Amino acid sequence: MVIQWYPGHMTKARRMIEENIKLVDLVFELLDARIPLSSRNPDFERILATRPRIILLNKADMADPQATEAWVASYRKQGIDAVPIDALTGKGIRHALAIAKTVFAAKSQRLQARGIRNRAIRAMIVGIPNVGKSSFINKLVRKNTAKTGDRPGITKGKQWVKLQDGLELLDTPGVLWPKFEDQQQGMRLAATGAISDDVFDEYAVARYLITYLHRQYPAVLASRYELSALVEDADMMINEIGRKRGCLDPGGEINTLKAARIVLRELRSGKLGRLSLEWPQETEIQPAVD
Ligand code: G4P
Repeated sequence: MVIQWYPGHMTKARRMIEENIKLVDLVFELLDARIPLSSRNPDFERILATRPRIILLNKADMADPQATEAWVASYRKQGIDAVPIDALTGKGIRHALAIAKTVFAAKSQRLQARGIRNRAIRAMIVGIPNVGKSSFINKLVRKNTAKTGDRPGITKGKQWVKLQDGLELLDTPGVLWPKFEDQQQGMRLAATGAISDDVFDEYAVARYLITYLHRQYPAVLASRYELSALVEDADMMINEIGRKRGCLDPGGEINTLKAARIVLRELRSGKLGRLSLEWPQETEIQPAVD
């Protein structure tokens, strides 16, 4: 199955990011903590290269804590700042802001030498659709928030948000990229809900997910769906889940698409527990894809 997707508005959004990068001091790049590789836009490497970047592993509350810990260590080894956060409760955000202040400190000193004092940190927020950019900004926004309005060089429609504590955020629209690197990337983005359900084959994605869960989290699969014996065959497992959950057609046949949708919905709503679909290279388990 091929998942392909690049609506026109994403080209526009990408251009907006490219045009505005020079206006900010640093970038908060939001990744999905469950899929830090697949939710990382490869185009950003080039587009954002001129500014320091802080990776925020969002939805850490839904990710496997062991995997998240391994990711943070792996980024640290590469000299990249990465902070697990939960944009809904705000967990981790204070730590992220502290890192931003440290990153900005050198530039702040240079500005002060030129007589510019107490300038707010200007940060751009980037990330794929649905990764939690709005939730992150909403969490940061407090009562006294005001839109800063137009600045020279900023065209209409851009969203600057000024916060009390010396931070100005530039929100950007979610951007995917024209071509996924491989099938797995598409599958993982689809499984976690980053791509809307009508552009991929839900059954194939559920099949992929079950194959992965069978290898990485067999106990979760067995207990959630009361499967007495796990079989290697994902189709058989989906069939069994359908039977257990009463997904039947009017004729009494098991409706496997309905069963597949249940599995996807339950992953996305966290009912399957805290799971990660990607691990740093040394620990990663790759499920086969049809
Ligand atoms: P975006 O701006 O990047 O497109 O993402 P947005 O903030 O709209 O978040 C997309 C979905 O992800 C929302 O759920 C939001 O509640 C959820 N979300 C964001 N951050 C976190 C997080 O850290 N943890 C968890 N568990 N969920 C998070 P939704 O179902 O689309 O909307 P709603 O139910 O919140 O209304």
